[in-house]
Amino acid sequence: MDANSRIAYASNMPANPSHAPLDPAALAKSLAPFGESRMLPPEAYTSPEVFAWETANFFAGWHCIGRGADIAAAGMQRADKVGDTTVLLVRGEDLVLRAFANVCRHRGHEILPCGGSTTARAITCPYHSWSYRLDGDLFSAAGYQGEPNFDVSEFPLTALPVQEWHGWIFLDPSGNAGPLEMHLAGLADRVAQYQPERLVVMATHEYVIEANWKIINENYQECYHCTSIHPELCQVSPPESGENWTPTLGSWVGGWQDLREHATTMSLDGHSDGVPIPNLSPTELRRIDYIGVFPNLLISLHPDYVMTHRAIPLSPGRTWVECSWAFPPEAIASPNFDPAYAVDFWDITNREDWNACESVQRGQESGFAKAGPLSPAEDSIYQFVTMVARGYLGQPLSLLTANAQTQTKTEKVDH
Ligand code: FES
Ligand SMILES: [Fe+2]
Repeated sequence: MDANSRIAYASNMPANPSHAPLDPAALAKSLAPFGESRMLPPEAYTSPEVFAWETANFFAGWHCIGRGADIAAAGMQRADKVGDTTVLLVRGEDLVLRAFANVCRHRGHEILPCGGSTTARAITCPYHSWSYRLDGDLFSAAGYQGEPNFDVSEFPLTALPVQEWHGWIFLDPSGNAGPLEMHLAGLADRVAQYQPERLVVMATHEYVIEANWKIINENYQECYHCTSIHPELCQVSPPESGENWTPTLGSWVGGWQDLREHATTMSLDGHSDGVPIPNLSPTELRRIDYIGVFPNLLISLHPDYVMTHRAIPLSPGRTWVECSWAFPPEAIASPNFDPAYAVDFWDITNREDWNACESVQRGQESGFAKAGPLSPAEDSIYQFVTMVARGYLGQPLSLLTANAQTQTKTEKVDH
């Protein structure tokens, strides 16, 4: 039995339709038209109750949990902490990646300890050695041979929706978030030509940032701060350049910025030690696309590399971030290839950003914070903030989906 055939899709995001514990009047201000709106209320960044709600809703729906290349071989198994639970990822003999609740169907022992990994031809519980095939079906339970009332087919591991998309693994631990294609609607048009699935990660940095995960998202969505805190970035990319995209049916936001004339990529002096990603258009070779996929993946598409930030919220005021740089195999084939030109530039820029995010977090926690306005250059933050606010109110994240549902309801009333 295929794991996915055991998955029942129930409804749209969020998984739990109840409202977040926030003042609806404050959220109404966040949802006011751009130019009149306010940011989320400070409690959205500081309250343990809001954080718990987000974990049970936003992070129980589709979100990125890593790259498929890290669990590429048949039989590879890994247990990851996801929200309040742990999930078992398994690469099958058919090379399909599957996800299961990391809970044995006998008496609930974890199949692997959280953070653990192994490679084997079967999934074996360490407690009483029940063994499952790599597709999650139970095939062996010690001591049950010949028992008339025991049928192994009744006890498969609980499958969870998981999908690889251009090299990234997306998981829906709730099983209720609907098709990933809806969550990412329209995004392949922006990303596919970079072929992220064939790029190779050559460097990874981990950061623990003393700031709420949304502050990190919001910071990523604007370059209004660039002239103030990013002298290196301004040397190679005009901060006032580019545009943001209009909202789509998908749960992502973003835009682009140009390279300065002398620069071929984002590095300290604008030079590249790599090679352009094949088949990019002349336009794509002169700009960087910055994409925030809700809730936790930031994709930065450069002419010669793709950088991603993947976030895991640890508490209201603390977030783990993994930053990875992936390059085309043609660049890595060069014996002297060194990713430092990209890594050094972005590590400096990341740290400038984290300092700002941590200061914003302290401001939100000061007791004096009030939800502020958004500048004309912060329209992409507006898209993100309204997505979050709609989610808090139990509505679809995407404005277009929310509008379509409202229209359908109205049409039903009309008839
Ligand atoms: S709990 Fe897994 S075999 Fe008993
Ligand atoms: Fe920045």
